[in-house]
Amino acid sequence: VTTRTPFIAGNWKMNLDHLQSIAFVQKLAWTLKDANHDFGAVEVAVFPPFTDLRSVQTLISADKLELGYGGQDLSAHDSGAYTGEISGAFLSALECGYVLIGHSERRTMHAETDEVVAAKVTAALRHGLVPVICVGETAEDLEQHGPSAVPVAQLRAALENAGANPDIVVAYEPVWAIGSGQAATAEQAQQVAAALRAELAERDAELGARTRILYGGSVKAGNIAGFMAQPDVDGALVGGASLDIPEFSSIVRYQK
Ligand code: G3P
Repeated sequence: VTTRTPFIAGNWKMNLDHLQSIAFVQKLAWTLKDANHDFGAVEVAVFPPFTDLRSVQTLISADKLELGYGGQDLSAHDSGAYTGEISGAFLSALECGYVLIGHSERRTMHAETDEVVAAKVTAALRHGLVPVICVGETAEDLEQHGPSAVPVAQLRAALENAGANPDIVVAYEPVWAIGSGQAATAEQAQQVAAALRAELAERDAELGARTRILYGGSVKAGNIAGFMAQPDVDGALVGGASLDIPEFSSIVRYQK
C-alpha cells in the first residue's frame, strides 16, 4: 500500500514583503514547534513572493526548520532576454523544493495557456523542483461540462512533455471557490480528486498511487478535516487563511 504524506501548503500570493516574511516564518515555526507538530507526519510548505525567498531560505536553513518553500511561478525558459521572468535555476539555487504552476490567477490574469503551463512543468522538472500543478474549473465550466472534465483536461495538457512518472503534486482549485468563502464540499473535492488520480494512474500506475492531490479554495480551520478525510485528497493549498498564523496552524494540525 502506498502511503502519501499529507501536505499543507500556504500560497501567500502578493502579500508580505521580505521583512514581514521573516517575522511571519519565525512566528509560524514557533507556533508549530510549541504545538509539537510532527513535520514528518504532515508536511508544511509556504509559497512567498519571489523577493522573500532569500530571507525565507536563510531563516529556514539557519534554524534548521522543517518547513518547505517554493516560488509561486517560474519561467519556461532557463535564461536570456525575458525581462521580469524568474528561472527555475534561480529557484533551485535558493533551495526551493517546489514551485506553483498554472494557478488560476496566472491562467486568467497572465494569459497562461495549457501549453505555457506544460512548458513550465518541464522547466521545473529540469531544475529539480517539484511542480505543484494547479487545475480547476470555473462556475461556467462546471455548468457546461460537469465537475471533472476541465481539471482532468488541464492536468493531461500540463503533463504533455513530462514523461511517464514525474515527481509532481496536483492542486485541485475550483475557480469559483478561490477567495470566495464558498469552499467546495468535501464530496465534490473527492469526486474531482478521484478523477485526477485516475488520469494519473492511466499514465502510470505508480504515479497514480503516489502523487499527492491537494484541494484549494476557501480552506479554513473549520473545513479542513472534512477534506482530509477523503481518500483521494492528500492535503490543501491555502490562500487567505495561510496569512493568519493561528488559523494556518490549526489547518496544519487538523488531526488534533
Ligand atoms: O492557491 C490557493 C488559493 O487560490 C486559494 O485561495 O484564499 O480561497 O484559500 P483561498
